[in-house]
Amino acid sequence: MQHESYEQPFVFPKWANYLLPVIVLGAMGGMFYLPTVVDLGASPITTAVGYSPLQPVPYSHALHAGRLGIDCRYCHTTVEKAAFAALPPTQTCMNCHSTIRTQSALLLPVRQSWATGFPVEWVKIHDLPHYVYFNHSAHVNHGVGCIECHGRVDQMDQVYQAKPLSMGWCLDCHRDPGSHLRPRDVAVTDMNWTPQDSGQDPAELARRLVKDYAIRDKAYMTSCSTCHR
Ligand code: HEC
Ligand code: HEC
Ligand code: HEC
Ligand code: HEC
Ligand code: HEC
Repeated sequence: MQHESYEQPFVFPKWANYLLPVIVLGAMGGMFYLPTVVDLGASPITTAVGYSPLQPVPYSHALHAGRLGIDCRYCHTTVEKAAFAALPPTQTCMNCHSTIRTQSALLLPVRQSWATGFPVEWVKIHDLPHYVYFNHSAHVNHGVGCIECHGRVDQMDQVYQAKPLSMGWCLDCHRDPGSHLRPRDVAVTDMNWTPQDSGQDPAELARRLVKDYAIRDKAYMTSCSTCHR
């Protein structure tokens, strides 16, 4: 089951002033979307901060990623390679649940999926409008941790949207990503990591990572066509 997202009214940030001609074109594009906006605005389902739909199985990240310490990439196997962060197939759950809690009523849909071959129908939570281009691997491979965009997933019994995922929010980081970066090899999925763990001064670390990961300049990072292509 998939839900379209609720598109919020759009306010141009201050930096955009000197890009007026481009903005006018963009706004005309925006008018194009108006019917969709009105359509979805009437829908009871939104993907605002806090959005936390009930899932077919009460799968807990707090238990599996938090207490059991399973790495995000054990289940979301494509985050480093692809735009999309894949959800785990039933096989991944059965690696453990063919021997653990085999009689649990909570796991009945997982066992049914295993028996029938039909996937568990997880409800999508984070969902950008289709005209925005987003890519997980571009972020994860440049040292942007899951926590920056998804919050303390390792403490969530039921996943909720922690950040606005609005254009202004994306741009806040794109204008000056340095302080949001972490060493990708050790910390990209580690939700307890702090800059102090690097043993380096945070400002110094930010400068080093921007250089090491060859982060592109502000003009590229804030250009419309980076996210709208
Ligand atoms: C054992 C498997 C497993 C592990 C480990 C795991 N996840 Fe998940 N994740 C799932 C499943 C299943 C779902 C879909 C059900 C749900 O939303 O809870 C999901 C959903 C999500 C979603 C919401 C997807 C959407 O629909 O928008 C995010 C974000 C997420 N996981 C991030 C993480 C992060 C970050 C970590 C590591 C801290 C992690 N996951 C570890 C299995 C896992
Ligand atoms: C690495 C092993 C492992 C994997 C993989 C795993 N689990 Fe679990 N799961 C556990 C353990 C351990 C428990 C806790 C059992 C206990 O409390 O006795 C558990 C508990 C659960 C429970 C609670 C069961 C109950 O009766 O309280 C649910 C629901 C669950 N897991 C769903 C899933 C789903 C869905 C997946 C796949 C996305 C998954 N698990 C993958 C190890 C795993
Ligand atoms: C820079 C922000 C950002 C980072 C970093 C990030 N995500 Fe996401 N994630 C998003 C956005 C935005 C979406 C919604 C994408 C869409 O609808 O096209 C999303 C969606 C997801 C989904 C649902 C499937 C999908 O791709 O739409 C999962 C699962 C997920 N993220 C897991 C992770 C994990 C695990 C990590 C860390 C390894 C991570 N994310 C890092 C922003 C991020
Ligand atoms: C916490 C910081 C942060 C946030 C939040 C963030 N990004 Fe990024 N983004 C980055 C970094 C760092 C890169 C890598 C830049 C590079 O490749 O030089 C990047 C790269 C990208 C790229 C790839 C550019 C390319 O051509 O390879 C796209 C597209 C993108 N971001 C879109 C988004 C969108 C859309 C959002 C909001 C939903 C978002 N980003 C939120 C930090 C962030
Ligand atoms: C870093 C990524 C990023 C960049 C760069 C970016 N946008 Fe966006 N834009 C987004 C996201 C994400 C949304 C969706 C916001 C939402 O759903 O609330 C969006 C939405 C929009 C919308 C639709 C608003 C609506 O209410 O329907 C327009 C128009 C738009 N952007 C124009 C622009 C223009 C013009 C530029 C260049 C000056 C630009 N964008 C640069 C990420 C970006």
